[in-house]
Amino acid sequence: MRVLVTGGAGYIGSHTVVRLVEAGHEVQVVDDLSNSSPIVLDRIEEITGVRVPLDVVDVTDRGAVTAILAQHPVDAAIHLAGLKAVGESVEQPLRYYRTNLDATFSLVGAMADAGVRTLVFSSSATVYGAQASPPFEEDLPTSATNPYGWTKVMQEQVLRDVAAGDPRWRIALLRYFNPVGAHPSGRIGEDPQGHPNNLVPYLAQVAVGRREKLLVFGDDYDTPDGTGLRDYIHVEDLAAGHLAALETLAAADAGGVRTWNLGTGSGTSVLEVLAAFSRAAGRELPHEVVGRRAGDIAASWADPTRAHRELGWRAEKGIDEMCADTWRWQETNPAGYDGPPA
Ligand code: UFG
Repeated sequence: MRVLVTGGAGYIGSHTVVRLVEAGHEVQVVDDLSNSSPIVLDRIEEITGVRVPLDVVDVTDRGAVTAILAQHPVDAAIHLAGLKAVGESVEQPLRYYRTNLDATFSLVGAMADAGVRTLVFSSSATVYGAQASPPFEEDLPTSATNPYGWTKVMQEQVLRDVAAGDPRWRIALLRYFNPVGAHPSGRIGEDPQGHPNNLVPYLAQVAVGRREKLLVFGDDYDTPDGTGLRDYIHVEDLAAGHLAALETLAAADAGGVRTWNLGTGSGTSVLEVLAAFSRAAGRELPHEVVGRRAGDIAASWADPTRAHRELGWRAEKGIDEMCADTWRWQETNPAGYDGPPA
């Protein structure tokens, strides 16, 4: 297939592009590079031997997306472009609602005009909100605890309504749990700008000496060791899930919306991740327990049964491999894509 990947220069996007190219698909990346580097395309070429074309375009610009689809006809799109920082979304709600929703309106409108109606959408386990206890399965009601999360809830709803209005649409809503890890080559990985919000990127910066110690946000949760439990999933498994979803949509007898959790099905605590990362880095990483972070829930993990059954997909890599691969990436690219190599 020929596939448009929005946000294809980003963390999840770049790994997904590699997987698509390796499976023989022809990829066109659209990315405004607001939170990514054009060097990613060089690295993808190193890994795959294929130069993937990039259009530096903001997906909210519908005219630009229409022009891209006219110039490079595609069979399907994978839509990952968007803003994703929870704390920032609390401070800048209008920017989050406008950007994430406009991107989806623009892409879906331009696709419909071009007659392309197969779409894989980047959603999040954040749509399970705070009301339920894990494991989370796809039929639970959705809600959110911050504007970023609401943009995912709302985009899912928009896409369900689009498919209800025109049964030719084939749409996958992929609810990612906590993506971590990097390509085993160490050539692509997560490159957060500024202060990392998420656990594993933060630990990687502690390990490489850019941060002093991990702050553990609370050890008084109702969990086995008192720290938060999350379903960490290797970004390579996540990328494979996108490929499986795309190919399943394309082969389906009929249109409609399908929702799949992409997670491993088990929870790992903050202290367990710290121990795994310390093993990967070969030394005990310092930490200090501080108070809970506002908005955090105690535990989140997937019920991945539907994805096993319908996609023939399951996550295969464990937390040690996730940390080892993150560490290889961080150690060889200590300041990310734009910094000097190690
Ligand atoms: N944590 C720390 N210290 C840190 C960072 C995180 O102790 O410096 C803890 C958190 O309290 C939590 C766990 O590590 O228990 C994981 O936190 P992350 O920030 O890595 O991940 P979250 O589960 O909070 O957030 C992720 C995604 C969001 C998404 C959310 C809900 O990053 O995009 O899951 O699905 F909204």
